[in-house]
Amino acid sequence: MSELKKIKDEFLSKLKESSDLSEINKIKSELFGKNGLISLQFKKIGIIAESERKQFASDLNVIKDELQNLINLKIDKVENLEINKKLEKEKVDITLPERSFVRGKIHPVSQTIDEISSIFSEIGFSVEEGPDVENEYNNFTALNTPDNHPARDMHDTFYLDEKKQILLRTHTSPVQIRTMLKDKPPFKIIAPGRTYRSDSDQTHAPMFHQVEGLHIDKNINMGHLKGCLNYFIKEFFEVDKIKMRFRPSHFPFTEPSAEVDIGYEMKDGKIIVGEGDKWLEILGCGMVHPNVLKNVKINPKNFQGYAFGIGIDRLAMLKYGINDLRSFFDCDYRWLNHFGFDPLDVPTNYRGLSR
Ligand code: PHE
Repeated sequence: MSELKKIKDEFLSKLKESSDLSEINKIKSELFGKNGLISLQFKKIGIIAESERKQFASDLNVIKDELQNLINLKIDKVENLEINKKLEKEKVDITLPERSFVRGKIHPVSQTIDEISSIFSEIGFSVEEGPDVENEYNNFTALNTPDNHPARDMHDTFYLDEKKQILLRTHTSPVQIRTMLKDKPPFKIIAPGRTYRSDSDQTHAPMFHQVEGLHIDKNINMGHLKGCLNYFIKEFFEVDKIKMRFRPSHFPFTEPSAEVDIGYEMKDGKIIVGEGDKWLEILGCGMVHPNVLKNVKINPKNFQGYAFGIGIDRLAMLKYGINDLRSFFDCDYRWLNHFGFDPLDVPTNYRGLSR
């Protein structure tokens, strides 16, 4: 016992004095390692006189447990101390004033896209996407606009190859084709995105934004289209009444087709929506042409529907009183600061769209 007690006393004082993990681990291996003092004592059990063996083994186990427990406790204590020291050092004083930094603004076009998506999602539309670089088939042929169709010239297309097979999409309508080829009807989707035409003046830019809408199901008619657009325009402008007119028009991929204008007036150089006698065209729409449905292997006798393409930039101009489309794409920081939106104020229908 006296030898065991000596070991115990010696290591207890060593343990008391040690204050870092590597020291404690060293003590641990000096005791319990392969040639550790306690391990060696265990080897002695076999050669000790039989009369003393039982007592010795029992004492040895008691001391072993005691030392092991003490070492583990000490390790916990030192680890805790180290964590606390680290926490103390890395403490953040949240009462300090914020560092001055310039917060970015959300571009009115991005804000408008978020608003539009939010409004349509309320009535069951989901969002689809397609690429800016399209093939000629999706952009024209599948949309009932074959080669040499006069509508192709009207689009002022940017072609990307000599064979005129690859182009920058001139509208978001190719997403109709992509969506209908991918899945089976019914469809109820919108597809916002960039579109391109070689055109530039106060109300046209070579790159602009559209949102496509497509609703295909059984027995969908022009009344559904009007109801849907009426709901959308009112929600978007956050008013109960709006001046809106449907003008007969022509698109190869819809029959019948219409264009929709919104009534507005100019007051002190600002646009006021819903009053006055000026009209701004904001969208094209119609019932999806049976040939388009056939091109995506849908039987037009079983499924019908409507489609629309809204000019996003023009909607944003009307809503936020911006009178030159080109200013959207000037990248003028002062302009963005004035017309931009707080990034944390994401538009939702229940909280209001454009505070
Ligand atoms: N794609 C047409 C355009 O860009 C708009 C449109 C979309 C018309 C869907 C009808 C149906 O002018």
